[in-house]
Amino acid sequence: MNRPDSFEPDKIQAGLKNLRIGKKVIVFGSVSSTNDIASEYAKSESNDGLVILAEQQQSGRGRGNNKWLSDYGDSIICSVVLIKESISKELLSLTFAAATAEAISPKAKIKWPNDIFLNGKKIAGILLESKQTGFGTAHIVGIGINCHQKTFPAEIKDIATSIDIETKSICDRIILTKRLLSSIEQWLDTARKKPQQVIKSWENLSLLLGQRITVVHNKKRFSGTCTGIDPQKGLILQLDSGGIQFFPAEQTSIAH
Ligand code: BTN
Repeated sequence: MNRPDSFEPDKIQAGLKNLRIGKKVIVFGSVSSTNDIASEYAKSESNDGLVILAEQQQSGRGRGNNKWLSDYGDSIICSVVLIKESISKELLSLTFAAATAEAISPKAKIKWPNDIFLNGKKIAGILLESKQTGFGTAHIVGIGINCHQKTFPAEIKDIATSIDIETKSICDRIILTKRLLSSIEQWLDTARKKPQQVIKSWENLSLLLGQRITVVHNKKRFSGTCTGIDPQKGLILQLDSGGIQFFPAEQTSIAH
């Protein structure tokens, strides 16, 4: 179904063409996963800042073995290609979380590493994947934001929400996508110049800071209190068993 806010490169790029993120935008109808498409484009250095958008994915994926499902035209489904980015992977993950939360709502929160919550329910997820290329590491950052969903499958209906549900109106995905890309551009700049500001923002938005949590890292469980985040080493836990341990985002998940 074509919606009034169907993705159109020209509408999305208006005002963004002189920036890094979004100066090139490619829109697809239905694809396997935008991260897979972006990964192909990441083979060329000239595609730094490229944004791949799709109305639907056949094999959208989340962290771990999770699937990421959305009907045609219901979500913002996008992947950003970053080439020769100097920001560490841990900080990049925090930067995209802060940028996505800010674009969605002043009330949005971050559940480390890459879930965005609004009013206690998950509204967006981020999947950061990296690959080695002939010219160094390329990062592909996939973002899915629930926009027009009115209901969710039974298994996630109590924990997922959408912008339309929360605002009791119909959002415009083009406006939101533009806000997202501008926010990413600004937060990447901040991460490079003032990384502590990203940490501070993460602390302000974090659902986990100060909480007693259990994480799973390399198939082992660790319980403790989250005392902060390190831009190189990841989540900081004051372990119940004593001592402090760092948990990198890529190899760690929060136990439920
Ligand atoms: C998560 O919730 O675990 C992360 C979800 C990430 C979903 C986005 S949608 C665009 C990009 N393509 C994918 O296949 N996944 C990410």
